[in-house]
Amino acid sequence: MAADQEQPLVSAAVDPEDRAVEAALRPKNLDDFVGQARVRRQLSLVLEASRMRGRSADHVLLSGPPGLGKTTLAMIIAAEMNAPLRISSGPAIQHAGDLAAILSSLTEGEVLFLDEIHRMSRPAEEMLYMAMEDFRVDIIVGKGPGATAIPLDLPPFTLVGATTRAGLLPGPLRDRFGFTGHLEFYSTGELELVLRRSAMMMDMRVNSAAFAEVAGRSRGTPRIANRLLRRVRDWALVHGVDVIDARCAGSALDMYEVDAKGLDRLDRAVLTALVTKFNGGPVGLSTLAIAVGEEPETVETVAEPYLVREGMLGRTPRGRIATAAAWEHLGLVMPPTVAAAMPEDLFSVYQDDSSSGLEDSRRSETEWSSREG
Ligand SMILES: Nc1ncnc2c1ncn2[C@@H]1O[C@H](COP(=O)(O)OP(=O)(O)OP(=O)(O)O)[C@@H](O)[C@H]1O
Ligand SMILES: [Mg+2]
Repeated sequence: MAADQEQPLVSAAVDPEDRAVEAALRPKNLDDFVGQARVRRQLSLVLEASRMRGRSADHVLLSGPPGLGKTTLAMIIAAEMNAPLRISSGPAIQHAGDLAAILSSLTEGEVLFLDEIHRMSRPAEEMLYMAMEDFRVDIIVGKGPGATAIPLDLPPFTLVGATTRAGLLPGPLRDRFGFTGHLEFYSTGELELVLRRSAMMMDMRVNSAAFAEVAGRSRGTPRIANRLLRRVRDWALVHGVDVIDARCAGSALDMYEVDAKGLDRLDRAVLTALVTKFNGGPVGLSTLAIAVGEEPETVETVAEPYLVREGMLGRTPRGRIATAAAWEHLGLVMPPTVAAAMPEDLFSVYQDDSSSGLEDSRRSETEWSSREG
């Protein structure tokens, strides 16, 4: 997808409008942070203990898909520790010198938030190891054989790293974090709470059923939930609706082509093509992409991840297949001949995966048979 092209409404990535309004909607303390009970509990303990010791908190790594609250949590950590917050990101730190400049200007107890920490350059990463462990950096002065390292002590600080790709972090870096919090997708109930809070802050009048309606379409992601809520607000304003109910929220989001499960036009086009043109597959990615008039890369990176996550699309060695859930979502019944061929295909999806993947495949097989039976 071209960079200047408008993002899908249900993309978890941040867009300029989000950036402008997200700051206002961000919860400011742990108590206001909805969901993620496990991470919240653990983090609260880490922060409480360091407050009792009168020390800066252990370094914290936050990982998880976009839009789930990593930046929000980093800001909360600084607020809870009553500490100033410095923000930078991996891509902004291309040279060790960039990092040295930031580190050497930190004040005692300061929280340094490094977003997209997996994208930092290797030399900067190595400097960070020492800074995290010993609160010290070596500043290199000069070049070549005449270069000397001047050691510089740093005040104790807390590094909060965020990454959408924890797997890309080198082991030595991961090991230097005292606490790692992995954020999970939110349940619909949790998203309703996020929406309730946002609606209050945006002065909207919304009933409970409408919150459920929007939450159900938000793909487990607060950023998407807040974005959809803004679209519903626009719709209500233009249609002169005072109190937003489920029907109104539903009509608004239908108009934006976000369906009851949070699928957008492209997602549905992919499933529809799979089911109606290829009898549910398997079909190769490039053929499927031609059928929906998109680049294979767009289908693979924009549409597929959520369809796979929702168990509607499977990737098998022989190509993409639509599962029973996909047929059902399109309001169709999977023909028995297609159904008979399915379990084996689903199983082979995970055959060369880790053992947990194997469990997943077993689970989808069981789900399959229960649906059939
Ligand atoms: N637990 C939560 N409770 C309430 N609102 C939340 C929560 N998590 C996220 N949000 C809202 O979702 C928006 C996106 O969150 P945030 O920017 O923290 O995501 P992120 O994980 O940093 O995403 P990215 O990976 O794109 O940087 C924020 O504006 C915030 O208002
Ligand atoms: Mg962020």
